[in-house]
Formats: sequence, C-alpha cells, structure tokens
Amino acid sequence: MKAIVTGISGQDGFFLSQLLLSKGYEVHGVLRRNSSMTRGTIDFLPPDIEKQLVIHYGDITDENFLSKLLQSEKPEELYHLAAQSFVGYSFESAHSTYDANIGGTLNVCNAIKTLSPDTRMYFAATSELFGKPNETPQNERTPLLPRSPYAVSKLAGLWTTRTYRDAYQLFMSNGILFNHESEVRGPEFVTRKISMGVARILLGSNEPIVLGNLSAVKDWGYAKDYVEGMWKMLQYEIPDDFVMGTGESHSVRDFVEEAFGVANIKITWKGTGVNEVGLSEEGKVLVKASRGLYRPLESDNYRADYSKVREKLGWEPRVKFKELVRIMVENDIKLIKHK
Ligand code: GDD
Repeated sequence: MKAIVTGISGQDGFFLSQLLLSKGYEVHGVLRRNSSMTRGTIDFLPPDIEKQLVIHYGDITDENFLSKLLQSEKPEELYHLAAQSFVGYSFESAHSTYDANIGGTLNVCNAIKTLSPDTRMYFAATSELFGKPNETPQNERTPLLPRSPYAVSKLAGLWTTRTYRDAYQLFMSNGILFNHESEVRGPEFVTRKISMGVARILLGSNEPIVLGNLSAVKDWGYAKDYVEGMWKMLQYEIPDDFVMGTGESHSVRDFVEEAFGVANIKITWKGTGVNEVGLSEEGKVLVKASRGLYRPLESDNYRADYSKVREKLGWEPRVKFKELVRIMVENDIKLIKHK
C-alpha cells in the first residue's frame, strides 16, 4: 500500500507517518521548501523512521506539481493535512489562508479526479466549522457556522470534497476533528505555549506566561489517537464524514491550572478579562492575559459527540485531558532540562 501525506511536517504528519509505516505502507510526504531548510516535525522522527519516508518537495498551491505527483505515484490513499492551520493568523492573512486551504484542497481534489480516481482521500476538516455552537455536544448534524477566515476556508474544503465525492463517485472522507495536541505541537498553539511556559517557570524562569482569552472552552485530545481515526476512515466501506473528539470540555484556564498542577505549583486567579492574572502561593504573577492575544471573534463552547466514529469505526480516544496535559508538561520539563 502506498500513501501520500500532505503536511507531513506538521504534528499530525509526525504521528500519521509512523502509524502508516508500522502498518507496512510506503509513505510519501509533500514538503514545502523553506529558506532555512527546516523540516518541521520530520526532524523529530527517529532516524530509522525518517529515512523510510519518500519526500517530494512542492507546494499544494502548485497545481502542476500535484498533478505530476498523483500521476506518477497513484497512491491507494492520500491524507490531505497541509494547511495554514493557525486560526489567529487567519484574521491577519485571510488571503494566504484561502489560497492554501481552499486553492490547495481544490488542487488535490482535481488531481485525484483527473489522474488517480481510485485514490481514497482524507480531508482534515475541523471543529472550528461549528463557530460558537448553541447545541452541546456537537456532532455531524450540528450546523456549521464558521467564525474565522480559517474556518471559512475549511468549510469550502469540506464542501469541495463532499461535492466531488457525490458528483464523480470519489472516495473522499472528512474528519471533523476537535483540538488535538501533543509533545510535538507547534509552540504558537495555546496548549504548547502553556506546557513550555510551565516547564520554564518550574526550572527557574521569572517570565509569566502571556495568554489571550482564558475562558475559551475547547475539547482537547491527543493527536496520536486521532491519526488512527484518520486511517480507519479510509478503511471504511464508504466515504463519509466523522466527528472526532473526547467528549470533555475544558477552558484555557483549566489547562493552565492542570499544567501547573503537574509541576506541583498551585495557581489562584485574580481579576477578570484582560486584567486577569494567575498567582503562585507566594503572590508571584505566573500568568497574565493580554488584549493583543484575543481574537476578533472567538470560536468555542466545544464538546464532541463522537458516537458515530465509535459505532462505525470502533474509535475511542485513549488519552483524555488530564493525561494529555501531563504528557505535554513532563515532556517540556525534560526538553528544557536537557537543553
Ligand atoms: N494560540 C493561542 N495563543 N491561543 C490562545 C491564547 C494564546 O496565547 N490564549 C488563549 N487562546 C485561546 C484561543 O483564543 C482559542 O480559543 C484557544 O486558546 C485554542 O487556540 P489554539 O491553540 O491556537 O487552537 P485553535 O482552537 O484556534 O485551533 C486548533 O484546533 C483546531 C481544531 O482541531 C488548530 O490546530 C486548528 O488548525 C484546528 O482546526
């Protein structure tokens, strides 16, 4: 079996490529060249794993590149993970977000349709499509009400794969994934920002962790669990859409408390909104809010109803909130100690 993974250098690519290799796949990854020649999470893979990957340098916004790739490789499966995935940044750069997330997805769909119609495709949709939902929990029937340029771009991607699936009988499945994190999460995402900040403070830093909206409520799971669900979606008898999450809701504030708890530091809160601070027992400021890190619109109130994926694919999250926070904080303490 051969699989192509776009976005192989991201967090999910890190776990998915290892899962596919362990199942005996030939794994091809699409990687965008950058001037510093960094390769994202590929550089964190054990060398014996990394050398098994076949890397194709190119960009999903380049239609010609994707056409050639699909024509020459004709993989059984393609996992389309590449995207401008940072919601906050999408407010500053809607155009580049649309180019990568809408244009790139359209290029992938067209290349499959024209050159490799037997390829089964997974598209990385997102819980951000729900915006600020009124109903809890959210499932595949919850209205899609995007509230960021990122979410709008993913809505277009979702409907492109649905349309191609129906119009041309292609196997295209969508994973509507709630937040999923790990020890290789990018430092710009809130969970990693917190786990790294806690580790630094535990090891002597006096710099508080500066955050935006502490009250945002998300459903956070472990990325390693979620890539198994992606694979299962492509083994299912028909293409379909699936919500994946943990069924637990927690605020950013909860994440901060839990993370400091792993380091045996108790935190208490004072003030509200942009004036809120988190204090140590000695009264030292460990966390503070900053207006500049708030988004123009927040998307939250999330809790996944993952009953469909459980019933149809037998998928369950193994790691839940507390364990996830522990994994991330302990990993960052180790990383900073050994720096
Ligand atoms: N990044 C960040 N930085 N977020 C903060 C901060 C901060 O300093 N302070 C508070 N937040 C809040 C955000 O407002 C948001 O509500 C929440 O923390 C999570 O933000 P992110 O970690 O940036 O993730 P996200 O929820 O916007 O999006 C992630 O998950 C989606 C669902 O799976 C990304 O991975 C998306 O690509 C993905 O679709």
